[in-house]
Amino acid sequence: MTDSLNTYLQDAQPRQLAELQEWLRIPSISTLAEHRPDVKQAATWLMAQMRQAGLDNVELIETATQPMVYADWLHAGPDKPTVLIYGHFDVQPVDPLPLWTTPPFEPTVRGENLYARGASDDKGQTFLHVKAVEALLQTRGALPVNVKFLVEGEEESGSRAIRQYVPAHAAKLAAAVALISDSHILAPGQPAILYGLRGMWTAEVTVTTADHDLHSGSYGGAIHNANQALAELLAQLHDAQGRITVPGFYDEVRVLSAEERSNLARLPYGEAEILAESGAPTAYGEPEYSVVERTGARPTLEINGMWGGFIGEGFKTVIPCQAHAKISCRLVPYQDPARIADLVTRHLEQLAPPTVKVEVLSTRGGGYAFLTPYDAPAIQAAARAYGRVFAKEPVYTLEGGGIPVVNVLQETLHVPVVLMGFGLPDDNLHAPNEKFYLPNFYRGIRTSIAFLDEMAGTDTQG
Ligand code: BES
Ligand code: MN
Ligand code: MN
Repeated sequence: MTDSLNTYLQDAQPRQLAELQEWLRIPSISTLAEHRPDVKQAATWLMAQMRQAGLDNVELIETATQPMVYADWLHAGPDKPTVLIYGHFDVQPVDPLPLWTTPPFEPTVRGENLYARGASDDKGQTFLHVKAVEALLQTRGALPVNVKFLVEGEEESGSRAIRQYVPAHAAKLAAAVALISDSHILAPGQPAILYGLRGMWTAEVTVTTADHDLHSGSYGGAIHNANQALAELLAQLHDAQGRITVPGFYDEVRVLSAEERSNLARLPYGEAEILAESGAPTAYGEPEYSVVERTGARPTLEINGMWGGFIGEGFKTVIPCQAHAKISCRLVPYQDPARIADLVTRHLEQLAPPTVKVEVLSTRGGGYAFLTPYDAPAIQAAARAYGRVFAKEPVYTLEGGGIPVVNVLQETLHVPVVLMGFGLPDDNLHAPNEKFYLPNFYRGIRTSIAFLDEMAGTDTQG
């Protein structure tokens, strides 16, 4: 890295942090209607930053749901590749609020961490790329490659608009590679590139056992209780070892090769880490798979919420006639979300006894899992970039979470997707006290710069 860039990056840190804090103060929760104006404000705040960084064609893309922001810098010339950088500026809800040490939208530095909703997921990790571009334009006056940004405000609520937008604007978004920082590495000094993400299907299950709620004295023992019926049905979806019992559920699941399993087994991450992060006393699930395999390469069926009957203060002797659950499946290659919807729906219908009517309403489909070969040249360029800044080669791993747009980018733009994260496993994503480890924010800026240089085939950092 040249002296002037190095000095610039050193000096800029307090300002870069203050700016990120400003963005984090905007409560851009995409799933809550009352925060719609905040999502929009997070978009316009980003646009101002992009203009200040020296990006061109900064554009607010309004959609039927949440806005997106586009910007580019295309002056490296046609013989240089184009890097498309994706991120999201919407965040998850903050409940339970009392468990936050400092308020979620009052970003606070404690020790080496910045605490706020969105600090890691994904404002901090998106912003570092804007700061990388700014640093290069300020010091060198140019970028080594062409750069396009597409940043959305709807990732945490399903990425509906962007999944339509990308295929419809494939020429505008044309690139040699898509770069995404919306994940975590294994430890502060151990970078990690993801080569797979899980997909998703979600549904609401409603169980009905009578046409109105009933007195439990007059009817108890003679009419099936809907809460009990729902619990009985859902309890049958897993066996005692955590295997999903839905017939055909595993039919299409990608089988791991012995080589891949031994690579995953060598990762410096496993049961001890997952227990320490979660506070759980012991792990759960398919005994023949490691926890890395269970979360990265095996599908799940989760009960995210259940409700029904009387939960207010005091006491009510009632037989509820209806009970509900929200369920979701994390899917792996090569499971088809539509087929999984059919299989789970049919199985629940078949399990239902004559006392029970069960309805399954799919609420989100189409979430295929993602998988990419990591010997792709762009991914190897990312590996070298990490190596330069972290002085450590990345490991290649699978992640259980999902980023809905990745498949669309891969399939409609025909680009390799580089999942280069800067978060940490204990960042408390979606939970109270979300944080971003600040040394990795600054290293992330340098790694982004190194990646752009690597993509250009230049070695100006050395
Ligand atoms: N950044 C996460 C996905 C993620 C989490 C990647 C951990 C790597 C490590 C993303 O913002 C997210 O939360 N995705 C949702 C998608 C859903 C709301 C459609 C998820 O996985 O639940
Ligand atoms: Mn995210
Ligand atoms: Mn998220």
